[in-house]
Amino acid sequence: MPSPDQSPKGTGFITSALSSPVSPTEAALRPLSFADFAGQPKTVERLQVMVGAAKRRGEALNHILLSGPPGLGKTTLAFILGHELGRNVRVTSGPVIEKAGDLAGLLTSMEEGDILFIDEIHRIPKTVEEYLYSAMEDFRLDIMIDQGPNARSVRLSIPKFTLIGATTRSGLLTAPLRSRFTLNTRLDYYDRATLEGIVRRSCALLKVGLDAGGASEIATRARGTPRIANNLINFCRDYASEKASGRITQSVAAAALELLEIDAAGLDEMDKRVLRLMAENYQGGPVGLGTIAIAVGEEAETLEEVHEPFLIQEGYLARTAQGRILTAKGYGAIGLKAATGDQQSLL
Ligand SMILES: Nc1ncnc2c1ncn2[C@@H]1O[C@H](COP(=O)(O)OP(=O)(O)OP(=O)(O)O)[C@@H](O)[C@H]1O
Ligand SMILES: [Mg+2]
Repeated sequence: MPSPDQSPKGTGFITSALSSPVSPTEAALRPLSFADFAGQPKTVERLQVMVGAAKRRGEALNHILLSGPPGLGKTTLAFILGHELGRNVRVTSGPVIEKAGDLAGLLTSMEEGDILFIDEIHRIPKTVEEYLYSAMEDFRLDIMIDQGPNARSVRLSIPKFTLIGATTRSGLLTAPLRSRFTLNTRLDYYDRATLEGIVRRSCALLKVGLDAGGASEIATRARGTPRIANNLINFCRDYASEKASGRITQSVAAAALELLEIDAAGLDEMDKRVLRLMAENYQGGPVGLGTIAIAVGEEAETLEEVHEPFLIQEGYLARTAQGRILTAKGYGAIGLKAATGDQQSLL
């Protein structure tokens, strides 16, 4: 049993939209409806089906788990769901909910049909996770109050709410938690054409001049990620106003992104450091993630969540039981030729 909890108040949960620092431009560029949300056709269709059915039945939306690498639109979709349903969205994140009392405080203050968005849900403490099971399934919480001889369990009924969980590491979720979500949907990296559309939309909202070449240049180098595309736009906008006519053209974008050391394929400094390390120090691998992390000076978790998914999806790296392996494309990206060593035969 979790330890008795006497302080359900003042738990520090976050009720604003700002679970993580969001820049004013990021907030301004965030799509508010499905109509503005480009790409992810499968996820969007699944969500639209569930929203339509929940509205028709006048019931709360079923619980949804959104997973995928950072910056692809998980938080955005949670707000879109709230907007489309006309419901409040309360935002918190896994590590912030430290005890069962925190969860009780959040859930009992919600109204029927409201959405609780838990970001980084894989980081929720295990003791709290167990309470979430009955909250999600039966809309009740059995909480221990008081200590010692006065300790007793109190059953709280909670309004029928919708839990939307977001995670960059769905593999870390326990099976019981995962199975309590009606829908478990994964966001993928965006293709170039979709990203170009997002770049055009963002530039229009920011009132920045952009031509077709500029849009394509930014989209190509944004690692399939709308948040990165928006960040690149911001830098290109500054570059264009300082060093050019203010308009983002192909050559302006290329020069600006060169200055950021983002190459034509969207690989950044850290990506290339990983590839170079594997080629030069480990003959292309296999090499373990922990070793790579120490050698490049980055957290293993960040490498696994942020860098690796893109490098693997684009075919620069491969994952094997023995460790990570550099592919021929990976060698090419850092201007080397693949050694004809045995790591290639493992692929
Ligand atoms: N499909 C989309 N169309 C247009 N813009 C998008 C789309 N998806 C995301 N964005 C933009 O990218 C930004 C980042 O998206 P969001 O914050 O939803 O990502 P996330 O998946 O929650 O990332 P994290 O895992 O880091 O929390 C948003 O502010 C929004 O402007
Ligand atoms: Mg988010």
